Amino acid sequence: MPEKKQPIPLDSIRAQVERCHRCPLAEGRTHTVFGTGDPHARVLIVGEAPGKNEDLQGEPFVGAAGKYLSELLAIAGLTREEVFIANVLKCRPPSNRDPRPEEIEACTPYLREQTRSIDPEYIVTLGNFSTKFILKTEVGITRLHGQLHRAGRFKVFPIFHPAAALYDGKKREALENDFVTLGELLARPDARGEGSTVACGGASVAPEER
Ligand code: URA
Repeated sequence: MPEKKQPIPLDSIRAQVERCHRCPLAEGRTHTVFGTGDPHARVLIVGEAPGKNEDLQGEPFVGAAGKYLSELLAIAGLTREEVFIANVLKCRPPSNRDPRPEEIEACTPYLREQTRSIDPEYIVTLGNFSTKFILKTEVGITRLHGQLHRAGRFKVFPIFHPAAALYDGKKREALENDFVTLGELLARPDARGEGSTVACGGASVAPEER
């Protein structure tokens, strides 16, 4: 049997991210945004990319969408401290434009290593970019949100991005309902089997029964 790759400690991954120059976004950044929260969280939240406030402060989701995310986490009975919040990209794209495929390719090895290190039970993907990366799908968030999927040993729960819902009442309602569902899922005991393969991004995907 091939030997299982050992996870890299989160602090070592953070150090690598801080000195990263794998893509041109490094030139325009004030800070890298590695992520914050419990290094052994049961829930890993994955957003898209830092915005202006995140770039200035070096922390994810600190602007208006971040304030709303804290309220949404509370709906599921969670605090920011007990989850881990990260992004697909660790540096801010100029003018908050969409991440480019080559930036995602350059940056996501860090997210993969973060996921291995944290080893969450659930990955909550916020919006299209993180959902497409984690589930390796072209299906959009509108069809995938609010249902449980799988990527390797991880349960994946896609939800609309809070920024997309801030000014859209319909999305807001869907988003808040999905956080209620997340809270219900989390009320179940962690039933992960030991010895399964660690995988993230590119694993097979099958909708799971709820
Ligand atoms: N939007 C994101 O996707 N991530 C952040 O950190 C902030 C806003």
